[in-house]
Order: sequence, then structure tokens, then C-alpha cells
Amino acid sequence: MGRVIAIANQKGGVGKTTTAINLAASIAAAEYTTLLIDIDPQANATSGSGTSLEEESKTIYEVLIEHEDIEHAIIPSLMPYLDIVPSHINLVGTEIELIDVPNREKVMLAALQKIRKKYDFILIDCPPSLGLITLNSLTASDSVLIPVQCEYYALEGLGQLLNTISIVRKHLNPLLDIEGVLLTMYDSRLRLSNQVAEEVRKYFKEKVFDVMIRRNVKISEAPSHGKPIILYDAQSLGTKDYMDLAHELFRRNGLEKSAEKFNMPPTVSVNASAASAKPSNDAAEPLDLKVPRKPASPNGHSKHGDSDSIEAANPNRTGEPT
Ligand SMILES: Nc1ncnc2c1ncn2[C@@H]1O[C@H](COP(=O)(O)OP(=O)(O)OP(=O)(O)O)[C@@H](O)[C@H]1O
Ligand SMILES: [Mg+2]
Repeated sequence: MGRVIAIANQKGGVGKTTTAINLAASIAAAEYTTLLIDIDPQANATSGSGTSLEEESKTIYEVLIEHEDIEHAIIPSLMPYLDIVPSHINLVGTEIELIDVPNREKVMLAALQKIRKKYDFILIDCPPSLGLITLNSLTASDSVLIPVQCEYYALEGLGQLLNTISIVRKHLNPLLDIEGVLLTMYDSRLRLSNQVAEEVRKYFKEKVFDVMIRRNVKISEAPSHGKPIILYDAQSLGTKDYMDLAHELFRRNGLEKSAEKFNMPPTVSVNASAASAKPSNDAAEPLDLKVPRKPASPNGHSKHGDSDSIEAANPNRTGEPT
């Protein structure tokens, strides 16, 4: 099958890497062969997945710039069905190095040809930009998964991203689909979180995944241990959310792998109810969203006493749910 999914949003810190690592691990836990490609010079997916580079290791940089065979850059992960193509800070110059390369937007597409049939899923963790690296990823992908953080200004810039997707469809990759919009760092206690989720669902409708990734401290701890959440804390809410997301992705792609087949501790349940039709391949439209703004008052709280911050909502709070 080999479905290639780019995880993209030019906005920084919205949960692209977290989703790339943990969705890849959750798909692999269901025994689908999975490749996670880190194409961000920050190399956060590389370190966050516990991938250590040797002196002679090849990375996505050599693949894109030095025509290295991508198979030589594949490193096995801690999980049996999951492999990684690591990144390196060298990639920071790639936008410039690619400028004079013929078919510069299709370098990644060519690199993937050899391996796309070897994996059931290939996930690409894009950098926070709409430059040549992201264009290469979108050109090489079957679909794009867009994480949107449930926070201030979350929707800003999405119009630009949709416009880029539309341009890629027109000139480079007509079959590029929107896999789905994923709400991340959701906190049901916050009015703002709920407002953002509502606005995103109003605009993107069935393209938004039913599953939302809740804000969860274990998710943010896991990368410093070089582990996906499923290996760091199999019973956390973060593990459940990403497993549920994987399951919804399977359903949307017509894969009927049952919850029982998930290769994980029995204490973690998988929500089999998440279901929806596959999103259509609509052209991008200009966004007209009522984006919740930062409150104007200097202390950052709304005039009416409604709380948009965890601290204000619950001053005695000592920790986040796990
Ligand atoms: N559900 C979550 N709960 C708690 N923290 C989270 C969650 N998702 C992401 N984070 C944290 O938010 C920060 C940004 O996440 P991440 O690195 O995945 O974003 P990104 O979009 O890849 O960023 P960049 O644009 O820099 O590549 C990280 O510190 C991560 O641990
Ligand atoms: Mg990232």
C-alpha cells in the first residue's frame, strides 16, 4: 500500500513532531510496517524517537543533496515495525542547496520511489516553513495531516498552508489529499480550547479527526527519554489518544484492523467508535474564520472572569492529568 503522509503546518510548535513520532509508533504497534522520516533540520523526531547517529550514519540530508540511496539512511527503531530516516542540522542549508537542482521540488518524490512499496505507512515530519523542504514533502506524499494547536492564533496561517496545498495539487501532485486536521494540546477545561476546536470543525467539517490529542504532561516528557509515549507510559492519556488517532486513520483509509490486534498492553483501550468518511479532495478556499484573539486586558484574562488559562481556572492545580 505505502501511504505517504506529510505532517505539516508552517506554524511552529503545534505538535507536528509529537504527532509524527507517536502516530508512527501507534501505527507500528498495530503491526503495520511504518517509516518515520525526519525532514526538519531541528531533528526533533530523530532525537525524540531515541535514534542515535553513528559517525557513518546517513541522514535525509545525504539523500536529498548527495543522491544517497534512502535505504542506506534507514535505521531500525526501538519498535519492531517502525524504522526511522534521521535528520541532521546540516539540512539547514538545504533550501539554498536545492535551488539549482533540476526538478528541485521532486527530489524527495524520486528518493521515495524505491521504498514506498516496502512500508504500509510513511510519515514525514516537516519543518515549520513552507519552503522547498515542505514542498518536496507535499509533492512526495499521498496526503497531508495538519496539526492545529488549540491555542491563540491557532488558525492564523492556515489559509497560506491551504493555498500551498492547492498550488502543489495544480503543478506538482494532483492527487495530494488532506488526510485530516488534528486538534492538538486540547484542554476541555479551557474555554479557548473549546472555541478553537469549534471553529476548526465549523470550517474543515469532516476533515477534522474526531480524535483530539489532549494536553498531557507525559507526552512532553517522552522525547527527553527518547521514546514514543507508548513505550514511555503505555497507560497515559497520551498513549490512548494517539492509539485512537491511529485507529481513526485506519478506518478512514478502509483498513479494518481491529482493536484487539493492537500490539500493546491490554490496559490501554482503543476507541473503535471513531469513524468517518474519507475526506474529499476539495480545492483550498480562503479562510474566513473567527479566530479567538488574545484578551485585550493587560493581565491576559477576560473582563468577565471567564478563564482562558489553567492557572486562572484552578489556582490550586498541581499537575496535569496523565
Ligand atoms: N499533547 C501534548 N501535551 C503536552 N505537550 C505537548 C503535546 N503535544 C506537543 N507538546 C509539546 O509542545 C511542544 C511543541 O511540540 P512539537 O515539537 O511536536 O511541535 P512542532 O510543530 O513539531 O514544532 P516545530 O514547528 O518547532 O517543529 C513540545 O515541547 C512538545 O513536547
Ligand atoms: Mg517539529
